[in-house]
Amino acid sequence: MFIETQNIKKIYNTKTVPFEALSNINIGLSKSSINALIGASGSGKTTLLNIIGALDEATEGNVIIDGESLKDKNSDELAKFRRDNLGFIFQSYNLIPVLTAYENIALALFDMSENDKKEPVMKMLEMVGLEGKEKSYPNEMSGGQQQRVSIARALIKKPKLLLADEPTANLDSVTGKQILDLIAQINKKDDITVLFSTHDERVMDISSKIFTMEDGKIIKEV
Ligand SMILES: Nc1ncnc2c1ncn2[C@@H]1O[C@H](COP(=O)(O)OP(=O)(O)O)[C@@H](O)[C@H]1O
Ligand SMILES: [Mg+2]
Repeated sequence: MFIETQNIKKIYNTKTVPFEALSNINIGLSKSSINALIGASGSGKTTLLNIIGALDEATEGNVIIDGESLKDKNSDELAKFRRDNLGFIFQSYNLIPVLTAYENIALALFDMSENDKKEPVMKMLEMVGLEGKEKSYPNEMSGGQQQRVSIARALIKKPKLLLADEPTANLDSVTGKQILDLIAQINKKDDITVLFSTHDERVMDISSKIFTMEDGKIIKEV
């Protein structure tokens, strides 16, 4: 498998009793596939995405991404691994409000000169359908446009894996569908593996695997 989780367990130490948010999660994603995590609020979707994305650490178990074991990396190595291999999209877009669309995307290319960033950023803006919007600030854009900026930011370094935590939850259904179509189109074009969490039925049409979560477990895989 291109990406796999091995017996992931996550325990949160709350004030009263320890809470097991994930138990024995074993999932495998094949290269260039689109995959969905579904399940009620509180079932563990975000926790699992954050562990696969090396934003959070499993209490037990491991994640292997294209042969690399996350457990064996220290925090500097994990930060580098994230930058080089992973893209993230969030429900609330997480753009930086004082930066323009162009600057939010260019931020991902922190290691390039300002001049070298121009072409790839403008190309990415065009690809996500935002030509002409480079100078707009997040509060001057619709939710759908902001999510397009966040997709451009996530994908500009051509990650191996795109993790998307309920990316259409704050969008109306027409805009949500456009965002899903865009992600499906990018998945085809650039061979990027995608893992979503969602309540959106339409994600199921474009997904090759759908994992249903309940109380921190995968109860169904189709
Ligand atoms: N930092 C935390 N400390 C304690 N419990 C948490 C923390 N984060 C999440 N949880 C709990 O873990 C469970 C799974 O949460 P989450 O992964 O956010 O679910 P989902 O994304 O499916 O809504 C929930 O019961 C939630 O309250
Ligand atoms: Mg969540």
